[in-house]
Amino acid sequence: MPIANDLSNEFRRLWGTTPSLYRAPGRVNLIGEHTDYNDGFVLPAALEFATMTAIRPRADRRLRIHSLALAETVEFDLDSPAPSPRRDWTDYVLGVALMLERAGHRLHGADLMLQSSVPMGAGMSSSAALEVSVGYALLAESDLPVSLVDLARCCQRAENEFVGMRCGIMDQFISCHGVAGHAVLLDCRTLDYRLVPIDPRARLVICNSMVRHELAGSEYNLRRQDCERGVALLSQALGPIKALRDVNSAELEQYTGLLPEVTYRRCRHIVSENARTLQAADALEKGDLHRFGMLMVESHKSMRDDYQISCRELDVLVELALPIAGVYGSRMTGGGFGGCTVSLVEADMVERFMETVAKGYREVTGMTPSIFTCMPGSSVGPVVQ
Ligand code: GLA
Repeated sequence: MPIANDLSNEFRRLWGTTPSLYRAPGRVNLIGEHTDYNDGFVLPAALEFATMTAIRPRADRRLRIHSLALAETVEFDLDSPAPSPRRDWTDYVLGVALMLERAGHRLHGADLMLQSSVPMGAGMSSSAALEVSVGYALLAESDLPVSLVDLARCCQRAENEFVGMRCGIMDQFISCHGVAGHAVLLDCRTLDYRLVPIDPRARLVICNSMVRHELAGSEYNLRRQDCERGVALLSQALGPIKALRDVNSAELEQYTGLLPEVTYRRCRHIVSENARTLQAADALEKGDLHRFGMLMVESHKSMRDDYQISCRELDVLVELALPIAGVYGSRMTGGGFGGCTVSLVEADMVERFMETVAKGYREVTGMTPSIFTCMPGSSVGPVVQ
């Protein structure tokens, strides 16, 4: 466990004591994109990439936080008024501490050192991994019980209310509940979930377009507004619905006339994606990988054409993947506007897949993608040293 050892050693070097360690994973979403804030369904898996927090509680209420990668330290006092967001990594840490306190958890001060293997800005939820890792560490080292649902919600609130990103619950939830070898079908309204094993005949392959999802924040919040507008207009006909989760495709088609064209297309993505996600979980459970793959492809088209959150590089990755022998399906994953695709590939065809996609992508875009298989990993927790 090289990261854990490095982190412990650095902590001892800087602050002279041995820390406790906690880790929380990033994620890949197999299907169900932008459905979480519409009270819908998602099917993510936790990754083995994770953010690690080394921590030692303090006698006072100060937090001293050091990022190993950025060689930067920030400090703040839990008893002073909350500062304004700085628009950098510290917002996630401070945001989580503030939301935990606001939820009634009285934290101890602490020294924290952070290190992450989750690629940043690549759509693998490096921010959720950071929030959950720090939140869990702060609770555990303050001798407070950790409720994983409560932790996921506080971390989501940190993004919504402090960082200013109106994300749903998916990333924080999977970081708190992932199980090795499985995806998780989550109902984002009730937070009921079921584990769906990943078929051992197939591999999940992630291709990083190397395009950072810069637009993700602003465009993301706009998509959310489009969905809210859709709900408001559709409720004129359907009665007091709460979210697009409450609309099926027949109803949407019946009341198309109530919606401006763009709003209609946004709604069509969400309504169809919810249905696809349930069907996809079912197909994976039944071992029907071909059906699962077809649903991935439909999902990508819907994000490209209706929700308009893809970009040329992501489309190129999907187009290169689909004709390769042994590929069941491929789609962009995460918030969009850059980041990664996920493909479901027959286990013995993975090497061939990687070579072909890397070569084709270089030819078309001049960029070298990073491509790797991922085994779904487990959720947040202490690291045994
Ligand atoms: C980001 C958000 C999630 C989710 C996805 C899109 O990762 O943090 O809540 O909305 O985008 O599915």
